[in-house]
Amino acid sequence: MTAADYSANFYHDYAGRYAQVSGEFIQSVYTKTSHPKLRHDWDLWDRMMALAPGRRGLDAGCGAGARDVLHAISEGYDVVGIDSIEENIQAARELHQEIADRVFVADLTNALPFDNVSFDFVACNAVIQHIDPEIVQSVVLPEFARVLRPGGVLELMFKCGDGVITVFDKDYGTDRTFRLYQASELLEMLKELGLSLIEAEPPEELGGLLYFTDPKPVDHCVFFARKEGGSP
Ligand SMILES: C[S@@+](CC[C@H](N)C(=O)[O-])C[C@H]1O[C@@H](n2cnc3c(N)ncnc32)[C@H](O)[C@@H]1O
Repeated sequence: MTAADYSANFYHDYAGRYAQVSGEFIQSVYTKTSHPKLRHDWDLWDRMMALAPGRRGLDAGCGAGARDVLHAISEGYDVVGIDSIEENIQAARELHQEIADRVFVADLTNALPFDNVSFDFVACNAVIQHIDPEIVQSVVLPEFARVLRPGGVLELMFKCGDGVITVFDKDYGTDRTFRLYQASELLEMLKELGLSLIEAEPPEELGGLLYFTDPKPVDHCVFFARKEGGSP
């Protein structure tokens, strides 16, 4: 029996469809949520922008169409997006010429093409589901820690649980497979890198471990972590 393929290869074939599904927010519906202020993807972006010490950000694994890069730039943030799949970047450039020079191909499993301490925030949403845990620990998270400035904020969203999940995704008419993660294991890795969880403070604001379920349905967790140093 071959191991389930949770790589990003799916996007080579579905970049156009992904850009449509994402742009129309078809799967960006939170069917269950652990916090009353977590209702929409923009709630997370709003909170991250409020927590970050500045306006320079990276969307790591920005996806076909780079919807969130467009959003952040329209809000006045200085954001770049990277994705390992050429077709995804091509879709972003075709759909949104205004961000064509803001998005490019780069693979998170390699060293990032950015200087140390270049970003006030890094968003990595629904991406590590395609990457082996050993690489997340040895490359992906250390690279985020390296490019974040002291006091900078990481937003990490992932599908949560143990092992691997395969679901039939009706919006694409095919099975999709994802690597699941536990918040505790990721926070342990981040602690080693000098990043710690931003708690919900005050409690009505987004923080701590946040959970939601998408329409596939798959359970997700998302949290913000701050790199030590700098002023909060
Ligand atoms: C489910 S999509 C999420 C896109 C976007 N972050 C969002 O929230 O809509 C996952 C994205 O991660 C990208 N990805 C997967 N592995 C990657 C890697 N090693 N380096 C960069 N991008 C990767 C995929 O190409 C895909 O665009």
